[in-house]
Amino acid sequence: MSATIKRTVPTPSDILARKGGTPLVCLTAYTTPIAQLVDEQCDIVLVGDSVGMVLHGLPSTLGVTMDMMVMHGQAVARGLSRSMMVVDMPFGSYEESPEQAFRNAARLMAETGCSAVKLEGGVEIAPTIRHLTARSIPVMAHIGLTPQAINTLGGYKVQGRGEDAKRILADADAVVEAGAFSVVLEKVPANLADEITARIPIPTIGIGASAGCDGQILVVDDMLGLFTAFKPKFAKRYATLGQDAATAIESYADEVRAREFPAAEHIFGDTAPEPKK
Ligand code: KIV
Repeated sequence: MSATIKRTVPTPSDILARKGGTPLVCLTAYTTPIAQLVDEQCDIVLVGDSVGMVLHGLPSTLGVTMDMMVMHGQAVARGLSRSMMVVDMPFGSYEESPEQAFRNAARLMAETGCSAVKLEGGVEIAPTIRHLTARSIPVMAHIGLTPQAINTLGGYKVQGRGEDAKRILADADAVVEAGAFSVVLEKVPANLADEITARIPIPTIGIGASAGCDGQILVVDDMLGLFTAFKPKFAKRYATLGQDAATAIESYADEVRAREFPAAEHIFGDTAPEPKK
């Protein structure tokens, strides 16, 4: 009998069952090659709307569209065989009404094959989450710093310090009540993240939160050192691929200018080589 353990793609219920267990490993991905790389290690791969800033050079996530999320979701789906794929609902695709949210969430699921959608907000968006979960759309919630709300939050600030913790606790309770199967806690004090993790029955997935969360997520380009426009405090760099790429491109440019590239092994003769006898 083979000792290999066959891993199947986890469902939202499997993720829910991981509450309090081995921490969930989550990363973002936006393209097929990166999806193939992260698939081996991740429980959840998020096609985040961070794609707008990371790959499209937008100043925030606000300009991301449904078409962009569908296209990147399809690309990521082609690279995954083991991890669960969640796709972000972009700004403007769910806030208008629960019906609008259902229409767009259903499109993301039908056109990308994702297992769940993620949307930002707590108490105010809970009726929409309820509308989706009651209609077979698993929802990952996202509270604390919600980047689609930077204009009303006043920037990318830590949320839930001091008295403000009550607001985040109420958000956590509301998304649980609405049926979310997990919740991202972004940029909240570690003690608050620990309190929420102990309080609610669904997995908390931290980003700038606490090692005590039920899982962690990072933007893959941040942790690989590929996105260097700025580095949030919580984004640990595990590699410096951006720097490595710059060095490689400089070497190429130097060799082209010095006529050292292409070398003999990269070019073709006028006649085909004799077949080996
Ligand atoms: O868009 C994104 O990548 C996210 C994660 C940072 C949680 O929402």
